[in-house]
Amino acid sequence: MSKLIAPSILAADFNRLGEEIEMINQSDADYIHFDVMDGVFVPNISFGIPVIEHVNKIANKPLDVHLMIIEADKYIESFVKAGASIITVHVEVCMHLHRTIQLIKSTGAKACVCLNPHTPVSVLEEIISDLDMVLLMSVNPGFGGQAFIENTYSKVKKLKELIDQKNPDCLIEVDGGVNYDTGKKLFEAGADVLVAGSFVFKSKNPSETISKLKLV
Ligand code: DX5
Ligand code: ZN
Repeated sequence: MSKLIAPSILAADFNRLGEEIEMINQSDADYIHFDVMDGVFVPNISFGIPVIEHVNKIANKPLDVHLMIIEADKYIESFVKAGASIITVHVEVCMHLHRTIQLIKSTGAKACVCLNPHTPVSVLEEIISDLDMVLLMSVNPGFGGQAFIENTYSKVKKLKELIDQKNPDCLIEVDGGVNYDTGKKLFEAGADVLVAGSFVFKSKNPSETISKLKLV
């Protein structure tokens, strides 16, 4: 099991975005997490391709792009061109998920599928062997700073069993309400990557918080 950290820039200070990215560049973070929201799949609108293009010019970590949008297929190639290394789509809005995963992989990006809190791990049974990563939401998507949903720990364990059986190289990422306490229990349950937004960017020393999260 790896212990990787992906700060979510949704919680960053966008008036100082360049400095915030430089902080991440100098930190122990492994990825930079981007929450792309369309106001349809989730009740919020965040940012899109232009922000990722700009950040890609100064970032020295892989860009982990979490698409909370409908019709993701239309935009996947553009996000990869903008600099995305990992593309995450939600199973709840991909009618032809196998085709979408093949499209992501055809661009050279890593393919990740995300499950909302209510979506069972069993939906992945026929597709898990094609995935590089699975993202489990531990909050209902759309906002940072929400409370962690406790049954995520048992969901991580179920997913780990499926992955050990069918695709041991597939990583488990968890997103929402991550802090030192929830992070420690998530790594113990079998998670590999933790996304952290408000806990990192609202802390006194974000870079130190990232290092400490990796050590929980
Ligand atoms: C929510 C996003 C998360 C969010 C995490 O829909 O997918 O990445 O920004 O923020 P925190 O860590 O504050 O819960
Ligand atoms: Zn996210």
